[in-house]
Order: sequence, then structure tokens, then C-alpha cells
Amino acid sequence: MNLAGGDVRAALDACQAVHGDAFVFGFGPIRYHWFLGLEGMRFVLLDEADAFGNAGAYGFLQPIGGPTALIATDDPEHLRRRRSVQPAFHPRQVDGWADAAAARFERFVAERIAAGGGPLLPALRPVVLEIVLDVLLGPSARRRHPRLADDVATMMAFANQPLLAQTIKLPVPPAPWAGFVAARRRADAAIRADIRARRAGAALEGGAALGEGGVLELLLALDGDPDARLTEDELRDQSLSLVSAGFDTTTAAIAWLSLLLTRGELRDPVAHELADAEPAAAVRAPLANALLHESLRLYPPAPAILRRVRRRVTWRGHALAAGAGVGLSLWHLHRDPRLWREPERVVPQRWLDRSGPWGAPRDPLAYLPFGHGGRYCIGAGLARTLTLAYAWAALRSARWTTPDPDVPPVGMTLVPAGGLPLAWRRG
Ligand code: HEM
Repeated sequence: MNLAGGDVRAALDACQAVHGDAFVFGFGPIRYHWFLGLEGMRFVLLDEADAFGNAGAYGFLQPIGGPTALIATDDPEHLRRRRSVQPAFHPRQVDGWADAAAARFERFVAERIAAGGGPLLPALRPVVLEIVLDVLLGPSARRRHPRLADDVATMMAFANQPLLAQTIKLPVPPAPWAGFVAARRRADAAIRADIRARRAGAALEGGAALGEGGVLELLLALDGDPDARLTEDELRDQSLSLVSAGFDTTTAAIAWLSLLLTRGELRDPVAHELADAEPAAAVRAPLANALLHESLRLYPPAPAILRRVRRRVTWRGHALAAGAGVGLSLWHLHRDPRLWREPERVVPQRWLDRSGPWGAPRDPLAYLPFGHGGRYCIGAGLARTLTLAYAWAALRSARWTTPDPDVPPVGMTLVPAGGLPLAWRRG
């Protein structure tokens, strides 16, 4: 996580060496009580969970997702909205998106092979955004609103700056905030136009018929149920917050898995396993999944879970005042030698033989790439399906290598520095 542009992980390492698993680090808007070990996770996410809220915790996402986004609100409103949104991400629904995603990724891989080389991330990000927009807003939304993808990318580029840089909000071009506000105005108008047209039963400009799919369509189908119906503001916020929560993190997950798949001893068995599988079945392939678990353990795209303290609490003499910021470092949790044998090593076997000597800890709080409990990532199934659909598409036609297997992670969403340069060949 990039708070002020520096190497926060190294700073947290240094603090942990002196203060143990809980300490305060940062200043002003980036001052957080950090928790690094399993017991801190248990305290914040389980034992005293009602003392910690999401409202105000992810302030940097709020300008995009709006005030009613799931990640930005607390119960009871959060629970009401979550009950409406969750069924749209049912595994049956998600399975149905795998083939189209795999086909798009096959085209992407063919393009990369033809290009020969270059950084993966900048090429992959627009493709994942395209797929996520199709899944969430329906495949014709991009035809009706050709600028939508660019506008979402502009907003996310702002939210990916170090937190301190995001506090500078100059409304005058060429300042990044001015670009952000203009992009948000257009994206807002596009999504609201679609919601209104669908609610009015009107044929959508651009040729889309009602019933073309997409999460938004499923949410609009709740209109007849007064307990589940979402307002226009809520629908707008869910749409943009799901897109922004989904595409950057999933792109990062694909990039990190791609890095591991440059290693022949990891690649070849997974390629063999997926060779005869359908794209939707890849998400249930044991070895591919075990490697994805390792990838998300070592490189969690969302490296920290954030909270705001709602009422004063104390943990082992460490007092947290109401309103204070809290950060749970998944990076440290997932590499904690008290939990993981040789944590820096990639060992898919940890997940295949849980009782073996390398077995991953059984405590569900030891591995949190998608969070926990009532705040568990609503798009986890989609993210895993897209990531493994990518692996499916890439492994059947290509091999790739990187000049820098030890590339360091950077950014708010954790990505390989330099965008992960890869050399591609058919294979
Ligand atoms: C590899 C990709 C992804 C990772 C690593 C990831 C990670 C996370 C984590 C750690 C949380 C918990 C945050 C907390 O407790 O405060 C979360 C929540 C959430 N994620 Fe994801 N996510 C991913 C993909 C997605 C996708 C594809 C979507 C939707 C399309 C999505 C939508 C959400 C939402 C709406 C929440 C808030 C849930 C709530 O508070 O009820 N995420 N995600």
C-alpha cells in the first residue's frame, strides 16, 4: 500500500521489529494504527468487529464509488444493499461469464505473441476493464458509451496515486483532479442514462435490448421487490464501485500469477491440468487453484484492509480512539513465519495437503486476500474465474519469460514494478 509514495512495507517491517504487531505509523490523513499478526486480525475482524467500520475508511475510493458503495458503508444500510447485490454474483452466474472472458483473453494472448514482448500490465488492464464492464453493465454499454472505459481508467489512475498526492484536489486542468471530475461526470451521465432507459422500458440507444445480461440488469430486476429495490443513486454507486473495485485488482492478480507461471516447474503441471478443461472448470482445477492461492498469498492485490474505529477500544494496552484509522497488513500476515513454513517460497502443495508439513494454517484469518466475514469480497468468485480463464487461455497457446523474476511490488493496488515486462512465444 502506497501512502505517501515511499516504501511503506519496509517502514512497517522496521516498526514491527521495534514495536511488535501493533503500532501507529504515518501522520495527518495517513495516520493508521497498524496490525500485522494473526491476533490483531482476530481482534479487528472478529472479536471486536462492531467497534470497527468501513465508513470513511476507504476515503480514496469514495469519489468514484459514491457514498452508498458497499465498501464505504456500515450496517444496517450495508447489509440491506449487500443482500440485494450478492445474488448477482452467484457462482452459476459467474460461471456463465467464463467462456466470453476466455475468448477475449485468447485474442489478447495472440496479440502479445505477435508483438513479441513488452510490459504486460498496460496492455492487459484495458482488456480486463472491458470484460468487467461487460459483466457488470452488459456487453452493449461500451458501444453506447465509447468513452466509458477511458473515463473509468482515468478515475482509477487518480485513486492509485499515493494517498498524500490524492489530497491535492486542484479543479483546474491539467491537474489530475480536474481530469477525474470530468471523467466522473461523463461516466455518471452514461450510467444514469442506462438506468433510466431500462426503468422506462425504452430500447437503449446503441441497439441493446432489455435482457442482454449484466449485473446492472439483475439489480434492476429487483425493482418489483420493495425490500430489495435500489434507488438510482444506489445503482449508480454500485455500478461504478464494482467496476473500480474489480478491474484493477483482477488485472494485478493476473499479472502476479503470470509471473509465477514464468517458472517451468510451476507452469507445466498447471498447463497439463487445464489442457482438457473448459474455461469455467478452470476455477475448480485443484493445482491451478493452489497456485492461485500462493500467488494471492505472496502478492495480495489489495495488500491492506482498512477500518475506522467507531468506539474507543484497547488491544493489549494499545488504545484506539473513535475516528482513528486502522490498517491490517495482509502483506505481512501472508508472509508471517509464525504461520507459514518458509513463507517466501511458492509451494502450491500447502493448499493441496493441508495436514502435511507445508500445510496452510487452518485458521481462516491467516489468509485474507479477499477479506473476511460480512465484508468478504463480493467479486471474489468473479476475480478467481477471470484470473483462471486468463491462465487457461494463455497456457494453451503460449510460453512467456521475464527478465526480472524478483520484480518488486508497487502501488495502492499491488502490481509488479515496471508493469512486468514479458517475452512471448508460441508454445
Ligand atoms: C483479485 C481481485 C480482488 C481482490 C484481491 C479483492 C480484494 C478485496 C478485499 C480484501 C475486500 C475486503 C475489504 C474490507 O474488508 O474492507 C474486498 C471487498 C470488496 N470487493 Fe473485492 N477484490 C477483488 C476483486 C473484486 C471484484 C472483481 C469485484 C466486483 C466486481 C469486487 C468487489 C468488492 C466489493 C463490492 C467489496 C466490498 C464488500 C463489502 O464491504 O460488503 N472485488 N475485495
